Amino acid sequence: MLLQIPGVLTAQELAHGQRLLASAEWIDGRVTAGHQSSQVKHNRQLAEDSATARELGKLVVGAISRNPLFISAALPNRIFPPLFNCYEVGDGFGTHVDNAIRAVGSSGARIRTDVSATLFFSEPSDYDGGELVVEDTYGTHSVKLPAGSIVLYPASSLHHVKAISRGRRIASFFWIQSLVRDDGKRALLFDLDNAIRRLGADHPSHQSVVQLTGVYHNLLRSWAEV
Ligand code: NI
Repeated sequence: MLLQIPGVLTAQELAHGQRLLASAEWIDGRVTAGHQSSQVKHNRQLAEDSATARELGKLVVGAISRNPLFISAALPNRIFPPLFNCYEVGDGFGTHVDNAIRAVGSSGARIRTDVSATLFFSEPSDYDGGELVVEDTYGTHSVKLPAGSIVLYPASSLHHVKAISRGRRIASFFWIQSLVRDDGKRALLFDLDNAIRRLGADHPSHQSVVQLTGVYHNLLRSWAEV
């Protein structure tokens, strides 16, 4: 499932983030790339342990954690501390798949990457090229979202970022270890949750709302790994 969520950051959060990123120090993006992806990755990113990355990471995690669509779609168990990248003219990231397991800094903790996320800090009008292209069994999806919006897609997907031909593209990228590892099961739960919310809004006292909510939680109970 590929899901775009608009307006994850408030206008103030976005402006604050953009200010910090405008004066940030960037390093070679290959520091976090695996063997295959380091050969096709051409961009820069913030050092994982930099004060700017930490402050911005808190802002991003705070914003997604209060977003009901994000919670419903990703069913997060653990969130990798957000990373930040910058693509300038000539930069791009060839086709790759994200590493399945990632170590969290020097903490010794590891997370399984079930869901990949990209949160845009640049506006689409700031740059040409730079589309995130995700391949799945339904075809190829090209994604370029307004600043403050996020896209979620299965970390198992092959994907690439098209080369930039004008301007610069700044985004946050990170991974989620979901309570439900399987993308198909997560998508079913997401559909069911949305249907229950709509039904509950239209017919708040309908008995089926309670019954379907029970089905949702019992499916989650049988599929979740905590
Ligand atoms: Ni990737």
